[in-house]
Amino acid sequence: MRCFIACLLALLLPVCHTIAQTHSHLPDRMYADSTYAPFLFGVASGDPSQTRVMIWTRAEVTAPLRWEVAEDSAFTHLIRAGQAQCTATHDYTTLAAVDGLQPGHQYYYRFITASGQNSRTGRARTLPGDSVQHLRIALVSCSGAWSGYFNAYRHIAQRDDIDYLLHVGDYIYDDVDPDEHVRMPDPEPQIPHTLADWRDRHLYYLLDPDLRLVRQNKTWIAEWDNHDNHYSNFEKNEDGLTAFYEYVPIHMPDTAHPEYIFRSFRFGTLADLHMIDMYLFRGREDFAAGQRSILGNTQDAWLKQSLAQSQTTWHLLGNQEMMGSWLSQGIPSFLHPPGNGTYFSSSDWDGYVADRTRFYHFLDTARIHNLVTLTGDLHMSFIIDLAPDPLDEDVYDRRTGRGSLGVEVLTPSISAGNMDEEHIPRWVIPIFQRLSRDLNPHHRWVQFWRHGYTTIDITPERCVAQFCYLDILHYSDRVIFSRPFVVRRGADHWDRRHYTRRSFR
Ligand SMILES: [Fe+2]
Repeated sequence: MRCFIACLLALLLPVCHTIAQTHSHLPDRMYADSTYAPFLFGVASGDPSQTRVMIWTRAEVTAPLRWEVAEDSAFTHLIRAGQAQCTATHDYTTLAAVDGLQPGHQYYYRFITASGQNSRTGRARTLPGDSVQHLRIALVSCSGAWSGYFNAYRHIAQRDDIDYLLHVGDYIYDDVDPDEHVRMPDPEPQIPHTLADWRDRHLYYLLDPDLRLVRQNKTWIAEWDNHDNHYSNFEKNEDGLTAFYEYVPIHMPDTAHPEYIFRSFRFGTLADLHMIDMYLFRGREDFAAGQRSILGNTQDAWLKQSLAQSQTTWHLLGNQEMMGSWLSQGIPSFLHPPGNGTYFSSSDWDGYVADRTRFYHFLDTARIHNLVTLTGDLHMSFIIDLAPDPLDEDVYDRRTGRGSLGVEVLTPSISAGNMDEEHIPRWVIPIFQRLSRDLNPHHRWVQFWRHGYTTIDITPERCVAQFCYLDILHYSDRVIFSRPFVVRRGADHWDRRHYTRRSFR
């Protein structure tokens, strides 16, 4: 595979990208950024704080690079400059920490080789100061390169009203789903086995100009999920993790524990964001005799302490897989629904019911309010009340939302397949949506076949989620916005005033 990428690059470097588009070995809109060689894979920024941001690039050069950060895109007002070294040790990637910046500020940055070649100019944003009154994040997950076009990434990149991008996993895909041959290279990619394979997979993804553009224009906060690791039998994949840290513009939170990707960000007094990782920790430890923990005891204690000590109005959780339960009770067994007869899946939080009950109890007793869980994984859209027992009308009132302890937004995939890619006729899908809604009164809205991203818009008084749907089968800028879904400060459930039961698009 590594040889395959090298051959592609050798072919592409001397030619413009229009020739690359017609090359039989690469699908449409996959080409290196040869006009900015040696920065063929662009630039990126991530893991911001109030005074610092990380900037990333890759260049196969031996001499150190110079990086520059400025107030303006012409770089007439330089703020910071420094040196970065690309070495084979990290596959010629480099991640520089730019310190001494102002909160809530957008900066321009670029890298320059010793011989004077510039990278493209990126935009990076620090976290806001304490007085911030408004924040808008793009929530994304499940971006499969062979599943379709990255129209959603391009749309985010071109919006000036989005401050940060939050990716909750499956940034790359290890395997190829047979239903998802939309943009497939020849030969077909294989599951990575070595560090070189994982690096090649990241390089392949960065041939997509829309991914490069959204990395260049937005500051990323990201974590992995299963496809970024190809993890099985509770063993982490060291090579997958290494390549992830090399290619995604985040820094390792704890160098003594590379598998600890959980970490926090604070958006002034408005919100904090806790990135949690169930994927590498679920089922590995007990929190009590015979009771499996979903986050592991170290991460669980960290999360609860972080929430208990927080002074912000809103608490965001960056969460890989559905927290709020997806009930299958009531489906006749002869239909053979997936799952264990109670839930559709037992690999997410539904497989750790006792630990989820413990977490909900913590929210209740510690009086943690205004929790908004931001989730991916299922490739479909869900608006969910976090109700401890959704079917018990004494505990949870489906009409008012009373009894809910917070809310969850599950973002659709950027491109990876969902119901219609499973060859379920489009006209049948509303029936599935209606059935699922009827079984799950805490699911306030669902959409099972569109793809895209979600904006999370926060002010002191409310948080608004809106799905932004784009095509994946064709290159297109056409976007369809869902209605806004509102949760008001102190309510801990989705607002019913902005909601009707009709309209499944
Ligand atoms: Fe996924």
